[in-house]
Amino acid sequence: MPTISFANSKGGSGKTTSALLLACELAHSSSVTLIDADPRQPVTRWAALSEKPASLTIVSNATERTVLDQIEAAAVRDPFVIVDLEGTASRLTSYAISQSDLVIVPMKEQQQDASAALDVIAEIHRDMKAVRREIDYAVLFTQSKVVAKSRTARHIARQFRENDRVAVFDVEINERDAFSALFAVGGTVRDLDPKSVNNLAAAIDNVAAFAAETIERLRKAAAKRKVA
Ligand SMILES: Nc1ncnc2c1ncn2[C@@H]1O[C@H](COP(=O)(O)OP(=O)(O)O)[C@@H](O)[C@H]1O
Ligand SMILES: [Mg+2]
Repeated sequence: MPTISFANSKGGSGKTTSALLLACELAHSSSVTLIDADPRQPVTRWAALSEKPASLTIVSNATERTVLDQIEAAAVRDPFVIVDLEGTASRLTSYAISQSDLVIVPMKEQQQDASAALDVIAEIHRDMKAVRREIDYAVLFTQSKVVAKSRTARHIARQFRENDRVAVFDVEINERDAFSALFAVGGTVRDLDPKSVNNLAAAIDNVAAFAAETIERLRKAAAKRKVA
């Protein structure tokens, strides 16, 4: 039932990668719909490369005219609905945000991504006003270096983490071979050949931790709504 959207108007911030990682991880134990709401259809292209998990349904060609109905239909059917959004602020983005239980704002630890993330957060607050309810969101650092982060990266991450008004995932999605390989070969991280990508075990652990924290955030958001 919960709907999770991935939004950041900056292209390359890691929306599609993180959405796909989460969808495949949750699909191990649950039914999941992943809605491809980017006109370039990156998720749909990934699905055409190789076999996808049987419990994962891909909905292609979501537009501002269709996305509300597509989310509604998927939410009735599946325990998790994930929306991969395009890289521009649009009515489509606002519609998806308005229906979300959690909006994940992926960003690289770079200034341009940081500015775009702040714009998206402002947009989420406007959408909250429009629908008159609170919408939980959290920034997710992506493509972060496992070792030797730059000074800029550390500075930007610290600014976000020390800002009490912005929720930030404890987990970061690291920059990993396994995660970029998915778009070349299809399938899930768990399907990859350990001999063909570096440190697959760490990549699998990273995704499991991301899914666990997402579920925890959804649980807390639901508890908060019950109290309100
Ligand atoms: N965690 C990661 N590790 C390695 N490569 C990544 C990671 N996240 C994204 N990429 C690569 O960066 C590029 C942009 O990522 P993508 O997820 O498509 O961003 P967006 O959907 O925000 O435009 C892609 O080529 C993708 O393979
Ligand atoms: Mg994308």
